[in-house]
Parts: sequence; C-alpha cells; structure tokens
Amino acid sequence: MQFNPVTQRVIERLKQIVGEEHVLTSSEDLARYALDEIEERYRSLPEVVVKPRTPEEIAAIMRLANEERIPVTPRAAGTGLSGGAVPVYGGIVLSLERMNEILEIDVDNMMVTVEPGVVLGDMMRAVETKGLFYPVDVSSLESCHVGGNVAENAGGARAMKYGLTGQWVYGLEVVTPTGEIVRLGGKRIKDVTGYNLVQLLVGSEGTLGIITKITFRLTTKPKYVLDLLIPFDSLEVAVAQVLDLIRQEIHLAAIEFMDSISVRAVERYLNTRLPYSECEAHLLIQIDGMEEGAVWEAGERVYHRLMKGGAKEVFVADNRFTREKVWRARREIAQALKAFYKHVSIEDIVVPRAQIVKAVQYIRELSDRHRIETPVYGHIGDGNLHPTPVCNERDEQTWDRDLEAFLIEMFRIVHNLGGSLTAEHGVGLKRIKYLPLVMSKTEIALMQAIKKAWDPNGILNPGKVIPLELNV
Ligand code: LAC
Ligand code: ZN
Repeated sequence: MQFNPVTQRVIERLKQIVGEEHVLTSSEDLARYALDEIEERYRSLPEVVVKPRTPEEIAAIMRLANEERIPVTPRAAGTGLSGGAVPVYGGIVLSLERMNEILEIDVDNMMVTVEPGVVLGDMMRAVETKGLFYPVDVSSLESCHVGGNVAENAGGARAMKYGLTGQWVYGLEVVTPTGEIVRLGGKRIKDVTGYNLVQLLVGSEGTLGIITKITFRLTTKPKYVLDLLIPFDSLEVAVAQVLDLIRQEIHLAAIEFMDSISVRAVERYLNTRLPYSECEAHLLIQIDGMEEGAVWEAGERVYHRLMKGGAKEVFVADNRFTREKVWRARREIAQALKAFYKHVSIEDIVVPRAQIVKAVQYIRELSDRHRIETPVYGHIGDGNLHPTPVCNERDEQTWDRDLEAFLIEMFRIVHNLGGSLTAEHGVGLKRIKYLPLVMSKTEIALMQAIKKAWDPNGILNPGKVIPLELNV
C-alpha cells in the first residue's frame, strides 16, 4: 500500500479543522497512541494525532486524507485486543475521546443515544438511574468506550443471554471514508428497508466508517441476580457440565470458565483468594430474572445438578461484595497474565457449543506437545474461550516461531470443529494472516469488494480485518 507522509502543510490544515490544541505531534504524545491492548511488538507510531469534536470536523479530515492519500486510524479508548487502533502505516490517528456525551436517554422508546467516547460503565449506570438496562458486560467496562464496542462488536460475559453489542445497536451516525456524514437506522424496532448497513458497520473494526453517534436499544433491568462460583477437581468434568446446563436452564445469563493457571495468576495480581483455588477449574454462573423465587429455584437446580456432576462445592455470591470480588477476578485475568509473563498472546477462539469439551482437550494436548503454557478462561457458555499462550523464557525470535506453529495448528483444529478465529476481539492486525485458514477466497473477495466500495483509496484503517491485495 502506497501512502504519502504527513507534511507540515497537512498538519496546518488539520489545525485549521480541529483547532491547534487538538493536534498532537510531540514524540511523547505520539507514543501514547501507538498501541492498544495488543502485544508490545505491534507498536507503530502515528505521524500526527487529531482529536475532533464534531462529525463535520471528521468529514473534513477524511476529505483531506483522501486528497493527500494519508492513512487514518480511528481510535476509541484503545482497550482493543487485536490491534484495531494501531496505526500500522503511520499517518493520522483520529481519536474520538472528546466526543464523550450521553446525548439522550429516551425512556419511552427504551433507547439511549451517545457519542462514541462514552465509557461503557458510565452509560450502563446512567440508563440504570432511569430504570433501564444495557446488558452487554464487557470485561473492560470501566475503561472501554462504546464506539470501540460497536466497531469491534464486543461480547463479554452475558452474551449468552443478551447477545453481543451489535444486537443492541439500532441507529448510527457515521462519517464515511470519503467524508460524508450519513445516518443509518434509528429508533425503529423493525425495519427492513434496504440492506442492513447498521449491522455492516457493527464489527467492521473501523475500516468502513467512523462512528459519531450510536443509538442503543435498552431493556428492563432484571430485579434479581445470583452469581455462583463452582470449583471442580477436574477440568474435563467442569467443561462437560456446560452443555447440559445450557439446555436445561433458561435463566442463565452467563457461564464463565477459568482454569487453575488463570485463577492463580489473578489471585496474585489482585492479592486476593478465591475458594478452592487449587482446583483444576472454576465455573462462574450468573442467573437473573424478574422474580426472586424463580431465580433461587434455578440456583438450587444448578446446585444439585453440579454437585451431582462432580463439583467440589457451590459458592453463592448474593451480596454486592462477594459478587464484585468474583467477577473482578474473572475480568482481570487477561491483565494478570500480561503482568506476569514476558510473552502473552490473548486468543479468542469460538466453536459450536457442542464441541467445547473437544476444543478444551485439544488445547491442552497442543499446549503439552508444543511445550507452551496455555491458561484457558472465557465465555464457555458461548463456546468462546481465551486460550492464552504465555512464556517467560524464550527470546523474541524463538517465541515468534513457536507461537506461530501453535496458533496455526490451533486455528486448524478449531476450524475442523466448525469454529473460528475470533468471537469478540476482532481480526484486527493480529489475525489477518490467519484469515485464509478459516475463510474461502470468495468470502474474502466479497469483503474486499465492500471495502473498495466504501473506501476507494483504502485510507481508513488499512492493514486491518482483510488483506488488501485481491489475490489471497
Ligand atoms: C475477557 C477478555 C479478554 O474475557 O475478552 O476477559
Ligand atoms: Zn472475553
């Protein structure tokens, strides 16, 4: 891909568009926008960072970038795990951090309209004060921005019951790569007028447009929530319980899984203790509903089923303190592993749920054979796991080689089980080269054609999701 450098003249024009103080060029500033939560080795410096406040400013930036053939990488909070916000080709990083207002909570329509730079947790609390509920519970909820959630179609723990971010997105305002402002969808619950461009933008990882407003559908907050933490002596036995649970219990909002390496790492990281942390595996189950009796009954059924199925114990977290404690432990596993290992590759595989037992067995077998320690945790109720190859001993080069061999084999196995590369973190930068392992040439070519139609000069977030060249 041939792009032009950001010249002094371009910087002057950017300053005219967004104001001098919102254009950053110092090396310390650029360094802060060179990476998201992907591994350090993917670091790549932008040439300039701009922080627009309005869609009109963004449209002007995109028109300029097209004239000058300069790549633009949109960025929300930078909590992504696949490098979506890394400016691989330098150029402009377009940060949406100043666009951070909750614009409207529409109680009658049960919708909220926000700008992309709102922190997810803030939006969740704001709608709850009006008796409404936004259910998508992403691990990084206290730092991630909703714009990034939509761009990546973030999932999280409660996807099992409530779906991914995209399921709640009804309206978008988007600046196209060529600099037009377009409104897609709206507050209509049903609408089949034309192609569904809202859902095309969802999960497009910032390659088809820059999201400037989002209208999310909301629901009613469940009145009763029960969280259960269940240790198992045997990992296989724990995993084997999951399918039955899903089939038998309609009230389950989440079934999360943590193996012992993950649990021990997070205990050390948070300086806390979970019950029976020496056990091989833990399940963390959330039950929610509008009726207290029904929630407790479901809890009891889960208790009996799992005790019969080999659980060591079933701990009930029914107050805020214990609930926070167990969920925080689950949410911070990725950070804990990053803190204790030199090399960490957070993966995000997904298989049809009936294949979960096999997937976990294969990953363990792979980990032994490749001699790569691989903690496994994740959203097992969705068939979505985060096997995370880690290592402290190998040098950079050896690790690259060994990891590559491990990943290729893992992705092949997952594909054979009917699964895929990523369930909720995105292809981004990290998985682009593995795409042909799970996708046909025709499917990739169709995506390339869509990209070309939206972004003829290929300047918006190049190097992400799909290979640019047509001959894959
Ligand atoms: C989690 C992130 C890594 O599930 O997706 O914690
Ligand atoms: Zn996850």
